[in-house]
Amino acid sequence: MKFQFLEYAQITDDVDHIIVGFNQKGLSKEGQNLDAKFHNLLSGAIKARDFKGKLGESLTVFVGEKAVQVSILGLGEEPLMHKDYVHLGGKIAQICRKSPKIAIYLADLQQTDEAATWIAQGIHIGDWRFLKYKSDAEKSKTMLHDIYIEVQDPKVAQQHFTTAKAIAKGVAAARELVSEPANVLYPESFKDKALELKALGCEVDVLDIDDLQKKQMNAIISVGQGSERPPYMVVIRWKGSNDDPIALVGKGITFDTGGISLKPSLGMEDMIMDMGGAAAVFGTMKSLALRKAKANVIGILGLAENMPSGCATRPGDIITTYAGKTVEIMNTDAEGRLVLADCLTYAQKDEHAKTVVNLATLTGAMLVALGLERAGLFCNDDQLAQQLFDHGEATGDLLWRFPMGKEYDSYIKTRHADIKNMGKGRFGGSIAAAKFLEKFIEDETSWAHLDIAPTAWYDEDKLPLTKGASGFGVRLLEAWIQSKQG
Ligand code: BES
Ligand code: ZN
Ligand code: ZN
Repeated sequence: MKFQFLEYAQITDDVDHIIVGFNQKGLSKEGQNLDAKFHNLLSGAIKARDFKGKLGESLTVFVGEKAVQVSILGLGEEPLMHKDYVHLGGKIAQICRKSPKIAIYLADLQQTDEAATWIAQGIHIGDWRFLKYKSDAEKSKTMLHDIYIEVQDPKVAQQHFTTAKAIAKGVAAARELVSEPANVLYPESFKDKALELKALGCEVDVLDIDDLQKKQMNAIISVGQGSERPPYMVVIRWKGSNDDPIALVGKGITFDTGGISLKPSLGMEDMIMDMGGAAAVFGTMKSLALRKAKANVIGILGLAENMPSGCATRPGDIITTYAGKTVEIMNTDAEGRLVLADCLTYAQKDEHAKTVVNLATLTGAMLVALGLERAGLFCNDDQLAQQLFDHGEATGDLLWRFPMGKEYDSYIKTRHADIKNMGKGRFGGSIAAAKFLEKFIEDETSWAHLDIAPTAWYDEDKLPLTKGASGFGVRLLEAWIQSKQG
């Protein structure tokens, strides 16, 4: 897919699909031109169909001898936010799916040329599909090739596109990883993927099973020990500034069978996505490196496969975490918090990070609470919570904050160890998980936990996203990092 940002006069009319805009001001300039050229075809269609131009609504007509498609795209009400432009891009990708060459004329109705790059980002996101294991016939259905986008100043747009494109690539990288089946993506192969980021200028350190054992990281070890495939902790550093480092920690369970507390078989295949947190961290690190961000960020991936076997951890086992706290395992399916515990300790103890954000497909209870529209936000710092919430609203990676005060302390108390790895039965399961993680956070650390179980995967298209893995978190983290460090 090739994006070109051009002035009006530079755009070729040899295209298969033309997009023009419509809002309360009327049609965008090229829309008016086409309307005049084709005897009020566009304005007639708008009237006949009572087209109101709501955000993302579209109306298609065919013009000229070659029956070129012209889609009138509703731009809704001004002002539009970042996520609205990305949404429009997703819509364009959806309606242009069978058109190799498209031209987009919205420049006179959008606020800035930067907005054009967000539309391009949306097209990228809306065109993504996981076709790696499909036959050739199906592959060729991906047709978007040349995309001409009208802007006032191509140079300005091109500059902004460096960022928008890097983020789009980061989102795509996260989605690829989440989509890969667990026979292809397992802790070792995920680690190899992370090592590829070295080529982009990241520093990558790998802690293998020997290192984990030496450091007594028994929580991550206990999750991985039922599998033939050993666990890894991977540390990816992007040092684009001398600011204090921000640590991003991701749950990377490449497959979650539940372990000895085995999950039911119906739907278990969805647990290939249980590394969605680590994928979001990976995607963000890739994006930061691609755009050479002036930021100092450390990505930490906790990679393990949760399997039942003769070596697997049992319910009732007691382990000593890297932090020294003991945990009584009540349910081996509550494995994500164990992996995260050692990663969070590592982020603070070894990397001296004072700001830590972790992402994890942590609890099914989060879907019960929020449906599929938002991810849960748990935070010990009101300012950080507000920042993350606001960037969620702006980018469309939506969050909702949950309580985790002292009133929940009793949820993780247990008979024989410091804490247990689940809460009080079915109630407040996501909060219990957050309370568990909180035990591994030092007083001076500003920390947020995003439970992305609801938003890591969609069975239907959800504009701007195509169905499947969402890459949730990359756009949010990128926007937040940009606002803090650049
Ligand atoms: N990976 C799951 C959570 C999950 C569920 C993610 C659905 C995405 C979609 C997690 O490891 C898990 O199984 N959690 C248990 C915890 C319980 C045993 C305390 C759960 O949510 O049921
Ligand atoms: Zn589990
Ligand atoms: Zn899990």
